[in-house]
Amino acid sequence: MSTFDLAAGGDPDLISRPRRNRRTSAIRSMCRETKLEVSQLIYPMFLHADADDVPIASMPGQTRWSLDGLASEAKRVYDLGVDKVVIFPKVDESLKTRTGDEAFNPDGLIPEAIKRIKNASPDTCVVTDVALDPYSSDGHDGIVSDEGEVLNDETVAVLCEQALSHARAGADIVAPSDMMDGRVGSIRAVLDQEGFSHTSIMSYTAKYASAFYGPFRGALDSAPKESSDRPIPKDKSTYQMDPANVREALRELELDEGEGADIVMVKPAGAYLDIIRALRDETNLPVAAYQVSGEYLMIKSAAEAGWLDEKAVVLESLLGIRRAGADIILTYFAPQVAEWL
Ligand code: PBG
Repeated sequence: MSTFDLAAGGDPDLISRPRRNRRTSAIRSMCRETKLEVSQLIYPMFLHADADDVPIASMPGQTRWSLDGLASEAKRVYDLGVDKVVIFPKVDESLKTRTGDEAFNPDGLIPEAIKRIKNASPDTCVVTDVALDPYSSDGHDGIVSDEGEVLNDETVAVLCEQALSHARAGADIVAPSDMMDGRVGSIRAVLDQEGFSHTSIMSYTAKYASAFYGPFRGALDSAPKESSDRPIPKDKSTYQMDPANVREALRELELDEGEGADIVMVKPAGAYLDIIRALRDETNLPVAAYQVSGEYLMIKSAAEAGWLDEKAVVLESLLGIRRAGADIILTYFAPQVAEWL
């Protein structure tokens, strides 16, 4: 027979009742293990050289800003508490080449954008993306050889020029997203040599060859292209990581730490929470995670259809990324989160 006596009000042996710590909002907030704050967020923004601000079809709610629009939006979100942005350019087709030299044009779109943002909102921390894909006529993060190989060391030389041009224009943090070997160390050396030892490197340490980047490539028109006269790799799997791998992320971490990275990143975030945790447990550096365009789009489109509660799901998805161990989150939801929190 059960010792349970309904009339006496329950089991006298039940001493531990976890629900006591969930009883009221005041108690729950005291017992909460993970917190999400606006100061932990970086807002990715898109821009182009045109004079108008254009909604991005593949990413509802996101805009491809003009230089003026970008600067005033950076100021608007700064006033909401979002004081860190990362900027991605859509470059005119006519400026794209096989070697992506427009990437280090000192008068190019990104240097100009950095100056405009700093003018409009001097305390905004500006992060720039270092990779060749927006500037590559082949749509790759590196230079593609005649034989269809993405060349490592030749690419790193261009990335160094690119990072330097961003630092010279006033970027606070350069973020190499290209996944070439040795780029963090080379960029660090060039920055230091040229007087930019204060410019930080946020490395895309464990960036996976992910299908979740689809909407982003649509936004920048930066997907790998086809060529009639040369073989062009159809995907980025010879440089971005295999989604099956964990130990390899730790190997990349070890290299980036040794090469002088200030912040290490995992990308995407939602399907890679175990990788975020693995890096968090292994390093003393801040760990960032990028909630990428596909993750954004899945939530946004379900919310727009009325199938999900947008605010609740966004906050839960970001809290999950924080709980996995991310100190910093790059998310397209940053301004909305600032309004919600
Ligand atoms: C390219 C780059 C990509 C993203 C950030 N930098 C796309 C890619 O690697 O093909 C993806 C961001 C997103 O999907 O939100 N260097």
